[in-house]
Amino acid sequence: MTSFIEQVNQLIESRRSTKPRNFNGKKIDDSIVWQILENGNWAPTHGLTQPWRFKIFTDAGLEKLANFQALLYQKLTPEANFSPDKYERMQTNILKSSHVIVICMERQKSEKILELEEIEAVACSVQNMALTATAYGICSFWGSGGVTYTSELKEFLGIGEKDRCLGYLYLGYSDNPATSSRRTPIQEKVTWIAENTDTNDLT
Ligand SMILES: Cc1cc2nc3c(=O)[nH]c(=O)nc-3n(C[C@H](O)[C@H](O)[C@H](O)COP(=O)(O)O)c2cc1C
Repeated sequence: MTSFIEQVNQLIESRRSTKPRNFNGKKIDDSIVWQILENGNWAPTHGLTQPWRFKIFTDAGLEKLANFQALLYQKLTPEANFSPDKYERMQTNILKSSHVIVICMERQKSEKILELEEIEAVACSVQNMALTATAYGICSFWGSGGVTYTSELKEFLGIGEKDRCLGYLYLGYSDNPATSSRRTPIQEKVTWIAENTDTNDLT
């Protein structure tokens, strides 16, 4: 039996982004998606604002989102730059998913907490969800391309002017899940301060 820390290490290391084009169309039970969302709800949040808001598209809702964003892409793209492949991908990525969680941040009315921190809290929530999906053997992919940051998408989602859409978390099963990724060593990104030899004086 592996220890809790070994399980956590394994879970974190094995979470991968699997592109929705590699999903197999198999449906995730809604009850599992609710558990994924429940774990998202336990993210840390400054001032307990809990700014994450999720719009779940599944079943015929996937067609609604797919059609909307493909047509929006067409509308917003100058003819010379229009890519029929991309237009198709904007639909198929969604249609191959079981559920698409559209990731939103609801801006606090008082705006006391920094917007940056509200976005950070939503990102923590998304990571909770991606890890939970991994534990269930479900693939996930956070995509933020295409029409993610447009005002038209905000209107479609019915979110406020100061709220934000931060992308889609595509969920699905795959016969060919991504298994490899790479990171440069953590040691290159860490400065370890364990001594106080400075005589810095701010006054
Ligand atoms: C905020 C955010 C937005 C992302 N948007 C995209 C995207 O639009 N397109 C894409 O290919 N990957 C996107 N990704 C996923 C990254 O490509 C992926 O995490 C990275 O390649 C590392 O792979 P891994 O998650 O399997 O370790 C996004 C990830 C994050 C955190």
